[in-house]
Amino acid sequence: MEKEIELKLKNLDDKNNQAYMGGGEARQKKHRQGERLTARERLDVLLDPGSFVELDRFITHRCQNFGMGERKIPGDGVVTGYGRINGKTVYVYSQDFTVFGGSMSRTQANKILKIQEMAMKNGCPIIGLNDSGGARIQEGVEALAGYADIFLKNTLASGVVPQISAIMGPCAGGAVYSPSLTDFIFMVKDTSYMFVTGPDVIKTVTHEEVTKEELGGALTHNQKSGVAHFATDNDKHCLLMIRELLNFLPMNNLDDTPYLETKDKPDRIDESLNEIVPSNPKKPYDIKEIVKKTVDEGYFLEVQQHYAQNIVIGFARYNGRSVGIVANQPQVLAGCLNIPASIKAARFVRFCDAFNIPVVSFVDVPGFLPGTDQEWAGVITHGAKLLYAYAEATVPKVTIVTRKAYGGAYDVMSSKHLRGDINLAYPTAEIAVMGAEGAVNIVFRNEIKEASNVDERRKELIDDYEKQFANPYVAAELGYIDEVIEPALTRKRIIESLEMLKNKKDTNPPKKHGNIPL
Ligand code: HXC
Repeated sequence: MEKEIELKLKNLDDKNNQAYMGGGEARQKKHRQGERLTARERLDVLLDPGSFVELDRFITHRCQNFGMGERKIPGDGVVTGYGRINGKTVYVYSQDFTVFGGSMSRTQANKILKIQEMAMKNGCPIIGLNDSGGARIQEGVEALAGYADIFLKNTLASGVVPQISAIMGPCAGGAVYSPSLTDFIFMVKDTSYMFVTGPDVIKTVTHEEVTKEELGGALTHNQKSGVAHFATDNDKHCLLMIRELLNFLPMNNLDDTPYLETKDKPDRIDESLNEIVPSNPKKPYDIKEIVKKTVDEGYFLEVQQHYAQNIVIGFARYNGRSVGIVANQPQVLAGCLNIPASIKAARFVRFCDAFNIPVVSFVDVPGFLPGTDQEWAGVITHGAKLLYAYAEATVPKVTIVTRKAYGGAYDVMSSKHLRGDINLAYPTAEIAVMGAEGAVNIVFRNEIKEASNVDERRKELIDDYEKQFANPYVAAELGYIDEVIEPALTRKRIIESLEMLKNKKDTNPPKKHGNIPL
């Protein structure tokens, strides 16, 4: 090889090595404490081996303030590019906390914007691994402008390509707003935090003392605020979970629903399903048991499993095709809908609808949770979100009423009236305006008061009401339920329905966009 070429190659090697070192050995060593990985190691776990192609490795910031002119690190705190997950192309960015705390500079923003644009143009998912102290303080408004440009792209990409965020360190300010505009947020327990303003600022402004963990740790956002969708044990677990989720998602909004070959027979009949729903309507049971017994290989990837547990959402497959599952959970708050549950499920239904993923709903809901707490916090508006989401969804919608479907909640939960395509019910289903006791107390108030034996008369009336209304047959007679099925046949019927609906086309009236009750 010519000497000159050799030198040029050596120069390239040196430059690459300098970029690979990020903020330097000491900072990397500090960063690695516990089970934390560096920005580049994270990409190695996330992507298929050897598939990562880096872009913009040598970009540096242009800030001269506060002596920053002397402190330039190639890459400027973020590694960007593209690679593959199980063969599918994805665009990625991974912030490097060892470089100025992963903070957002104008040039870091430009790198992220470039891959956002490419992801949209080429119809591929985008995954952001966030580890950033927010806007780079030294850059002032330039950093804010960079963030805003990213937020705009996040918004434009919403519903076009799946956007996934992982929070892998302390993320503050702008570093949490971009993730909040994306579809799913993963957090790592004990090492990741999200807050708009940190504990120190809170103490100064409100004199409230709170730890980082309490304020914005993984459990806080997975249990309390509902901001995050997955709480993972460490960096590696987080990245492998993202791969898992991606398997259920299409590349973009025009792609077909993903398919994964399965050995689970589509006509598998499971007699044990006949015994899950108790005959006593007040007795709880675990709806996830029904879900898991019906989906391919019993595999259900639950989303937001720690939040609003009275409704269960997540991904599964029927005969190889991805579906979104929404299920009331009678084990928690008797499966009532309340504000957090409505918001949780509404956002999920809208995600599925945006990306052509059919929605299968399991219904056992006694109604909206009553009380001043709910009313004053706006259950009318927030409950309407779920109503709206189901109503506007044009993907195939299959509904199975396992037990209660009372009142407004019956309407909401993917009923025939909201364009449910196939609505099935178990013989244990009770489809009515409300439960027997409540109904009798209202309708027969005077009659009960005047009865010689109040308790006996009330019981008679309740029995009567149950016979007449606490069943699926009134709805079936009206065509609001397509078929009353033996529970053992659930999987078979759902798969037949989804096959039949495979080419479903439905539209909404042309409009700029609707006005979902936010
Ligand atoms: C520049 C930053 C930085 C930032 C951290 N660093 N955040 N540099 N701009 N925003 C640097 C630190 O100076 C330090 O550099 C290195 O990164 C590591 O930071 P530490 O503080 O030592 O780490 P740690 O103790 O783990 O604390 C992490 C942290 C804290 C909680 C994120 O750094 C922090 O509170 N940062 C500021 C957060 C913030 O208020 N950001 C601005 C938000 S406003 P050296 O050289 O010492 O290693 C915003 C506006 C957008 O983002 C709004 C859009 C809606």
